[in-house]
Amino acid sequence: MTDTVLVIGATGKTGRRLVPRLRALGVDVRAGSRRPAEGRTLFDWDRPDTHGPALAGADAVYLVGPELVEDPTAAVGPFLERSERAGVGRVVVLSSMGVEFPNEGPGSGRHKMEQQVKASGLEWTILRPGGFNQNFSEDFLLPGILQADTIATATGDGAVAFVDADDIAAVAAAALTEGGHAGATYTVTGPEALTFAEAASVISDAAGRTITHRSVPSEEFAQALQAGGVPADYAAVVVGNQEAIRDGLGARVTDVVERVSGRPATPFADYAARAAGAWSRP
Ligand SMILES: NC(=O)c1ccc[n+]([C@@H]2O[C@H](COP(=O)([O-])OP(=O)(O)OC[C@H]3O[C@@H](n4cnc5c(N)ncnc54)[C@H](OP(=O)(O)O)[C@@H]3O)[C@@H](O)[C@H]2O)c1
Repeated sequence: MTDTVLVIGATGKTGRRLVPRLRALGVDVRAGSRRPAEGRTLFDWDRPDTHGPALAGADAVYLVGPELVEDPTAAVGPFLERSERAGVGRVVVLSSMGVEFPNEGPGSGRHKMEQQVKASGLEWTILRPGGFNQNFSEDFLLPGILQADTIATATGDGAVAFVDADDIAAVAAAALTEGGHAGATYTVTGPEALTFAEAASVISDAAGRTITHRSVPSEEFAQALQAGGVPADYAAVVVGNQEAIRDGLGARVTDVVERVSGRPATPFADYAARAAGAWSRP
């Protein structure tokens, strides 16, 4: 029985969709954020003094690592030990399909974080989603759409089984509150794989104007990420993931969303229709 869950990254793309799902199931949710507000619990990876109070009385944790940190293990390892000591029984970790790509081998930060989780005494479930739909409407691909009607990536003609953050939240909610998910590593994808040009076409239909995909060289993409404040080592991971997608490795479709959450994965066109307001010009 899961009564109390600490959701780390509760203001993020998956966390803020997970919080209401858990509350609707009657779970007492600690919505972890560095930015205090009503209904939130102070949690900062860089401030271990916030970890104990956030964990007190929690049965389970939804773990989103520190943002834009290539190797989160220095923070995650002690946190897992502390969770065990605090009586937490279960952890559901947001990893990435990227750990299955050649650029994120055993030496990579996210891979090492997964190993830490598996070595902990906690009951664990690892989620490895593909690229989020919401990157187009809530994250790094949005400014290009708003300012230049362009989606620039280094993925060439490679396809991605884009997944909706709401579907990831549904899988996480099941793994946190139901039995049968301990020791599972789930590759979480949408129902179809689209190239970025195809995604741009669907977004154009929803937005009511033409949005195009521009394929850029890896170096240009890396420079753009760093100009936007992404540290060089993390930018290298993102670029490596994009190259793997370009080489055809991002197109794998799984049935995890339906199998674990009991509802079909969201088609990209349904997401785009719902998100269309985000692409209105300011
Ligand atoms: N985006 C994708 O396509 C994608 C695909 C696969 C995997 N992932 C994985 O998903 C994870 C989340 O990435 P995202 O882009 O979706 O970000 P996000 O969850 O939308 O935003 C990051 C969240 O982390 C919190 N956070 C950041 N730094 C923190 C810190 N030092 N201490 C505590 N909380 C902190 C932020 O909350 P506050 O600012 O409120 O503190 C925010 O809620 C990453 O680990 C990434 O590897 C992403």
